Amino acid sequence: MGIIAVHGGLDTSRDKQYLEILQDAALQGHGLLAKSRVQALEAVLRILEESPKFNCGYGSVLNFDGVVEMDAAIVDGVFSRFSAIAAIRDVHNPVSVARALMEKTKDVILAGDGAIKFARKHGFPTANCVSDEQLDAWQKARESLARGEKPTQNLYTGLAYHGDTVGCVVWDGEGLAAASSTGGCSLKTPGRVGDTPCLGGGIFASKTSAVVCTGVGEAFIETLTSKYVDEVIAGGSEPQQAIKSALKRLHELKKAEGGILAVDARGRVGSAFNAGQFPVVVVVDGKLLEDYQPVNLRQELSVH
Ligand code: GLY
Repeated sequence: MGIIAVHGGLDTSRDKQYLEILQDAALQGHGLLAKSRVQALEAVLRILEESPKFNCGYGSVLNFDGVVEMDAAIVDGVFSRFSAIAAIRDVHNPVSVARALMEKTKDVILAGDGAIKFARKHGFPTANCVSDEQLDAWQKARESLARGEKPTQNLYTGLAYHGDTVGCVVWDGEGLAAASSTGGCSLKTPGRVGDTPCLGGGIFASKTSAVVCTGVGEAFIETLTSKYVDEVIAGGSEPQQAIKSALKRLHELKKAEGGILAVDARGRVGSAFNAGQFPVVVVVDGKLLEDYQPVNLRQELSVH
């Protein structure tokens, strides 16, 4: 029993090949839910981190210097446990490093060289995270900038097609948890950290809800959007209403694009976005909800 909902990132394609990976990940994660919420979350995100199709792990965008720096986080709402890895390099599965941090230490966030050192100490080998496609996109973007032109690729993601942070929320009948993983924004400043490892910004879980966000990281941090969603649900709203309210607020405060996915302690799932795409898959009691679609608020909350 239980619910697992996974998103593939704001503006990631909803083509069959992308949805199939998300569906496979959700079903595999659901199979582990009876054992452990955190194990299920990790299994889901590892599949996405191994695929070059998603902006996390091996498919991550490159920063301005052509380096992949990734953020990942896990939060368990039952035990108020949180762990995050920020600006880590050269590991394929930042989510697994975050899990190791949660289970082996009292530290909550590790960043940069310290995160890499921790990963090596705990057996995560050096791994190339630069995919050919992202390297090519980065080279083209830097060439455009050198000519004084705006890169034709999406500046946010670096590719002709878009894609941002991936995330997953689970409810196992007893409690809620969430996890996210990301390469962040294309051409970001080296060392820049987004909303994914910021509890209350891009990720949150409590006894009330589990929430993950995707979109402009700075906007989610400055508005504490995931915490806001949790508070609105705690106030009596359904996740779908709370998410709509959060995206309206994000739009008012920051004119930002975003996608939000949440599940509450009654097993109600909500999701919405105000950009081009937001692939979401939901598995309930082991069954995939065919044709599940997040609510598209792009017309109402356009940022262009
Ligand atoms: N949402 C990804 C980032 O801004 O880092």
